[in-house]
Amino acid sequence: MCGIIGYSGTRQASPILLASLKRLEYRGYDSCGMALLNGNKVIDVKKGTGRIEEVNGKVDFLSLSGKVGIAHTRWATHGNVTMENAHPFTSCDQKYALIHNGILENYVELKKQLIEKGHHFNSTTDTEVLVHLIEENMKQAKDLIDAIKKTSEQAEGAFTFLLLSQDSGEIYCFRKDSPLIIGVGNNEFFASSDITSFLEYTNKAIILENYELAILNDECKIYDLVAEKEIEKDISIIEWTAEQATKTGYPHFMLKEIVEEVEVSKHALDQDPIKLAGIVKLLHQAKNVYFLGSGTSYRACLIASIYFAKFTHRNFMPILGSEFKTYQNLFDNETVLFAISQSGETADVLEGIRIAKSKGSKVISLVNVMGSTIMRESDQYLTLNAGPEIAVASTKAFTSQVIILVLLAFALNNQLSEGKDQLNEVIDQFEIIIKQSDFIKELSKKVLNKQNLFLIGRGVAFPVAMEGELKIKEIAYIHADALAGGELKHHTLALIEPGISCIALVPNDETKDDMINNIMQIKARGGIITGISSEKLDIFDHYISLGKVALEPIAMIPILQLIAYHLSVLRGNDPDFPRNLAKSVTVL
Ligand code: M6R
Repeated sequence: MCGIIGYSGTRQASPILLASLKRLEYRGYDSCGMALLNGNKVIDVKKGTGRIEEVNGKVDFLSLSGKVGIAHTRWATHGNVTMENAHPFTSCDQKYALIHNGILENYVELKKQLIEKGHHFNSTTDTEVLVHLIEENMKQAKDLIDAIKKTSEQAEGAFTFLLLSQDSGEIYCFRKDSPLIIGVGNNEFFASSDITSFLEYTNKAIILENYELAILNDECKIYDLVAEKEIEKDISIIEWTAEQATKTGYPHFMLKEIVEEVEVSKHALDQDPIKLAGIVKLLHQAKNVYFLGSGTSYRACLIASIYFAKFTHRNFMPILGSEFKTYQNLFDNETVLFAISQSGETADVLEGIRIAKSKGSKVISLVNVMGSTIMRESDQYLTLNAGPEIAVASTKAFTSQVIILVLLAFALNNQLSEGKDQLNEVIDQFEIIIKQSDFIKELSKKVLNKQNLFLIGRGVAFPVAMEGELKIKEIAYIHADALAGGELKHHTLALIEPGISCIALVPNDETKDDMINNIMQIKARGGIITGISSEKLDIFDHYISLGKVALEPIAMIPILQLIAYHLSVLRGNDPDFPRNLAKSVTVL
């Protein structure tokens, strides 16, 4: 969970690295740094703690000169957030600078051995071990490729890194368990954790696999370190545009991405019919199907599993990515694992996929990022077609996930065209809801800006409420609690006292009467109800409206996202970069 970027070409590297680094900031933003090889063939390093703009204000990355360099934005795992622990790290002889994405699991013992051999460490990170290990291995190796291969055999864990070599002026780009993509430009190359970081310069990309090493200078050579040979790899053309990865006038990416939900949901519905049919067939044939996802993607799994139960009368159990191992005995060669992930890189989900595959299960995935590890390790996949999602809080990817999964539930029940009609009605509602953003902002300010918030729903509206809870906690830093309306009487009513604010999701479906009872239980204890419904009920103290559609709970999703967004901004937070969190969670 860090962002790495390298540049080798004919232009000054620092402005390109800085611009690219800012686009990677969603991956981590507690410290950052840059290393360039200057005209005197010396590696210059600048780094500091804080967001990229802040650090740049202090160290002035643009004062670094050179046409080859690397840069890193960090989400701390090993070692506190300090200047010393910010990447890049250099070897004792200053011949190498290295940045890393991943976690080196055996760094403690490696570090001990290296210290015994005389290496001096400046940080408490796992990463610094890598640069010293390569330096040490160079003593015996015939070249850097050989030293990196040896290092890759000694190191354990996830250690995708970029190494800038002073001698050769090359960048060595090695992938192990964290993404690494090479951008192929005009007489220039990029190496990055994410395509969007270099999209402004090129849309041609080579996706590296584990144990592949790309060496960048005025050309790009790729080696398979296991097979010990140079290899040719296909160049993919990325269809996303650079503009999609900018705010285009919106104050935050999150708001832009909520507004995009209308358009993006239409793309989501526009799935390749042959692919869709292939997945429907696999789901039909499977003895058991389990969903797997983390965070917001898990909430999409919960919603999907309810619709699959409703429409197909089958139980597609949702499993939390981090809890997969508890359920691993359920997997065999008659089972399908259906993995949901925006980034396609979430470590918890990836681990589950690998275990399921080792037991002979087939894996289907639904991802947003083309070429991501989860996509590549799946037997079949669908893509969200949502374009780059930059805000850490997932919004348009979530609605797209839900739309595609519900479409599949209809398709499995031979009702594809009815499904499309109903989902199109939902998308129309998205458009109407987004226009109510200012009203939702006012209401958030007057009624919902509290220390504690409760959200209740039943049926599909329950996991929708859970997603609202997650978003409010994630970006507004308000303690929120979502529960099924019927659970109130079992515990949480104890917390309801006069003035407590509660958001009630009341779709016009079979849950409505029970929801009214639950609302009355809250009101009897002085709670204040903000109702979200297609019908204005007398029992609501405040009301957010939406139109009557068959899939009403799904149509409510942007309302909750907007509430979270406005609460976050009202409280002075940056909704795009919530504290302590990162977009792509590549650690277990
Ligand atoms: O990329 P993924 O969908 O696999 O990510 C899973 C979670 O980390 C993610 O949904 C997270 O919960 C979001 N930041 C929530 O908005």
